[in-house]
Amino acid sequence: MSNTQNHTGFNVEIIRQDFPILNRKVNGKPLIYFDNAATSQTPQQVIDVIVDYYTNYNANIHRGVHALSQEATDAYEEARIKIQNHFNAKHSHEIIYTSGTTHGINLVANGFSSVLKKGDEVIVSALEHHSNIVPWQMLCERTGASLRVIPMNENGELILSEFDSLLNDNTKLVFVNHISNALGTINPIESIIKKAHSVGAAVLVDGAQSCPHIKPDVQALDVDFYVCSAHKICGPTGVGMLYGKEEWLNKLPPYQGGGEMIAEVSFEKTTYANLPHKFEAGTPNVCGGIAFGAALDYMNSVGFDAIANYEHELLNYATQQMLQIEDLKIYGTAKHKTSVISFNVGDIHPYDIGTILDKMGIAVRTGHHCAQPIMDFYKIPGTIRASFMFYNTKEEIDTFISALKKAVMMLS
Ligand code: ALA
Repeated sequence: MSNTQNHTGFNVEIIRQDFPILNRKVNGKPLIYFDNAATSQTPQQVIDVIVDYYTNYNANIHRGVHALSQEATDAYEEARIKIQNHFNAKHSHEIIYTSGTTHGINLVANGFSSVLKKGDEVIVSALEHHSNIVPWQMLCERTGASLRVIPMNENGELILSEFDSLLNDNTKLVFVNHISNALGTINPIESIIKKAHSVGAAVLVDGAQSCPHIKPDVQALDVDFYVCSAHKICGPTGVGMLYGKEEWLNKLPPYQGGGEMIAEVSFEKTTYANLPHKFEAGTPNVCGGIAFGAALDYMNSVGFDAIANYEHELLNYATQQMLQIEDLKIYGTAKHKTSVISFNVGDIHPYDIGTILDKMGIAVRTGHHCAQPIMDFYKIPGTIRASFMFYNTKEEIDTFISALKKAVMMLS
């Protein structure tokens, strides 16, 4: 079904041909899409898989004896195995399909309601997206556990020595993103996981921002839970995955009740299905799951090393030019960061710059990026965020820099 071609060598012009949306115009100008941290674009190879599904074998899965249902079930379960292989999970039943990262985090947070008790402590980082803060606050309210925060420094890096002093025998869970969506900081999750395990705490890594840039090995990391969304990695919206170690997933109760997640139902008692179905109540996003698998095929055909090297070049190229603009301040200058640049220029409101850039066909995100604690740390309402993927070019960055200078001139 997937006709992903193997890219030998990295040629951005060839890669761009896979993304039909990159040919469109916005406000009469060629689209320059620099809002990749919000959602990535979809290659033709993945679009074809989606069209093929709805054209040829759309059906409900795990339920029908008929051919369409069998084909859809097979493709959906094959995609689960692709996801397992990509993240190097030990078992395919450790991969739970979700509607996205937020769903995965809430599933785990809900499960820990029956594990945590008053006096327990959970740790988040100062660099989290709201989706990796609010569910844990809700969990703490339900259980009486307390929330602790690993602080950050001016560069947008976590202060790990402070993490050491937060850890103790009461620490039960640690949640941290692999890469900050607002600043692009790559967090040292290897060492965070080791330190957390040394006091017996479990770790959930939010991989929403790292999955398009880094290929993680959940077994080598020894991470307890890892969550991400397909739409960040060239797949469709509305589907994602939760990886959990088998022993944890067996221990946690189901998140939602319904069809598919049961073994037997009577009015006296219901027993639950085995993993992964225990956590997959209701008709899932069948096409989304299959397309998620196709997106991983596509990303792997481009190659994660090539992607990381090229995106790093784009990051350096844009950063150097942006720093030449008077009064421009970049937020997030961590030594290890990915291709995200959050910035402001003087007192100009981010929204005003974003609106003018849009008139010139350039898509960026403006605002607090669902990371208000980071904005509070810098005492700003928000930033303009340009985020690059492997299909962006230096020429696009040149156009962006000229447009940005023009916008600043108009607004000063
Ligand atoms: N979390 C997404 C972003 O950072 C939506 O834009």
